[in-house]
Amino acid sequence: MKKDEKVTRILIVDRDRPGAELIDHAASIIRRGGLVAFPTETVYGLGANATDAKAVAAIFEAKGRPSYNPLIVHVSDIEMAWSCVSNPSAVFERLARRFWPGPLTLVGSRSDWIAANVSAGLATVAVRMPANAVAHALIEHSGVPIAAPSANRSNRVSPTTAMHVLKDLNGRIDAVLDGGPCLLGVESTVLDLTGAIPAILRPGPISAEAIALELGFAIRDFEPLDSSSDQSSKMMDSYNKEIESGRDASALKSPGTSAVHYAPRTRATRVEVERIGSISWTGRVGLLVLGDHAIDLLDDRSASGAGPAVRIDLRDPGSAAEAFYRTLHEFDDRALDEIVIVLPPDRPEWLAVRDRSTRASRPYQINL
Ligand code: TXA
Ligand code: MG
Repeated sequence: MKKDEKVTRILIVDRDRPGAELIDHAASIIRRGGLVAFPTETVYGLGANATDAKAVAAIFEAKGRPSYNPLIVHVSDIEMAWSCVSNPSAVFERLARRFWPGPLTLVGSRSDWIAANVSAGLATVAVRMPANAVAHALIEHSGVPIAAPSANRSNRVSPTTAMHVLKDLNGRIDAVLDGGPCLLGVESTVLDLTGAIPAILRPGPISAEAIALELGFAIRDFEPLDSSSDQSSKMMDSYNKEIESGRDASALKSPGTSAVHYAPRTRATRVEVERIGSISWTGRVGLLVLGDHAIDLLDDRSASGAGPAVRIDLRDPGSAAEAFYRTLHEFDDRALDEIVIVLPPDRPEWLAVRDRSTRASRPYQINL
């Protein structure tokens, strides 16, 4: 074992009825400033006591996360939420009561109880109450709100199982609560409530439409990235420069919602379905088809003698969300030469999966 390396304990618990003993053990690690990864209904989070700046700093360290990218605070009940947010608005309260516990993160103004580095120094704080019995029990037994980003190394694929967490963070964290695979598979919707109009900063399982329906007025929906532009790799370059120069980017409006995210190690290329015919199948390619597209590659295959080495179709938005990160992890494990992602339709129900696919890949044409 290297210096600074920890023994990461794997605590296997029942997803719906976790045993009190292991939860107490994990909660005692949180209370003494340690790091515990835990399941939520979206993805696994890497948790620390959100009121302890030193513990929070250890999250950034373990993930290799730039300090200007703020974390989400997880609570187990409404009272705990009210001690994280100062003067929550009526809209905040209404949405919390309607959608919690669940995959909606609300951004309000940060109370003094929450360590400033949770929010990367911003005056705001992002809060959510997860709908997973293990997460709930961990927060409740810890007695403090838990700051938790997704439990992966910065810019890597988000984890939806404890194994994914260990692949990235074994030896860097104190424990992982293994409560099985996550039900939803993509991160929560992030909604900014600090401006004049509520605005979605990250699309997720709760849609703008569902939020507007509850509020009775329209909100600002997420602006999708352009699937044909190389925005994500350009952002990757400027992001790396920022890290190298040690620039404090906390002035960015939504740091961390940058186009750089979730990338597998294998080179990943995205293509709209109309252009699938132009792909040249060189090397061992993993093909991920998102959406109910009728793509028959058999003709191409007999003509050129080539085709994908492995193909996975995820036809409907719910199961595609659930299996998306797991599929990228599996493709990564197969040591393929390339991953080709056929993007899902540009429709509201596919917004979150289209967003994550775009961030995980580069457009096809630049690789011609
Ligand atoms: O589903 C989820 O949200 C998962 C689970 C573990 O809860 N967590 C998660 O955390 O995805 P992370 O750190 O990977 O993403 C947090 C997102 C980032 O896009 C970050 O910029 C945004 O939330 N965020 C956090 N605090 C913010 C703030 N004060 N203002 C604006 N955006 C904020
Ligand atoms: Mg993340």
